[in-house]
Amino acid sequence: MATLPKYTVPSLTPEDGAKVAGILQQRLHALNDLQLTLKHIHWNVVGPHFIAVHEMIDPQVETVRAMVDAIAERIATLGVAPAGTPGALVAARTWEDYSLGRASTIAHLGALDTVYVGVITDHREAATATADLDDVTNDLLVGHLHELELFHWFVRAHLESVGGELSTAGVDGEKDSAELAEAQALDEA
Ligand SMILES: [Fe+2]
Repeated sequence: MATLPKYTVPSLTPEDGAKVAGILQQRLHALNDLQLTLKHIHWNVVGPHFIAVHEMIDPQVETVRAMVDAIAERIATLGVAPAGTPGALVAARTWEDYSLGRASTIAHLGALDTVYVGVITDHREAATATADLDDVTNDLLVGHLHELELFHWFVRAHLESVGGELSTAGVDGEKDSAELAEAQALDEA
């Protein structure tokens, strides 16, 4: 475990404060990565529906940046120094860099579906892991999930057929997800 904080919030032990801060640190990295990835998508989408997707992404960036700030300040409140540098993020992350450059809106949305699945799954695990340790952190993470899951629906609504089938269902990985999303869009054209 990391060095114990000299103080933490009232009613938590320094050990629990350090544990909660450690869980939050990984969420800080994940959401910092997400807000950068969202901007990258905002800049690289091309083709039909460009303006709709380009403009859909920016409010997501703003909201995720606010989540990043809240997570970092909760870590500091717990008595631990948040790590917010790019080097710390890259050293700690357990996932690959986003793999698409310039690509169609539907390919990026297919890939972004996979990104959101990963971020939301890990965020839910972090919320569960803090449920018995710190109600305030748990509440913070659950609050993020309300918005992250809403944004994920915005993305998936583009990938859904009128019959309710998701073109990316059962696929693992951004590249496959992007290819399947494009294939379904071509079929329906
Ligand atoms: Fe922009």
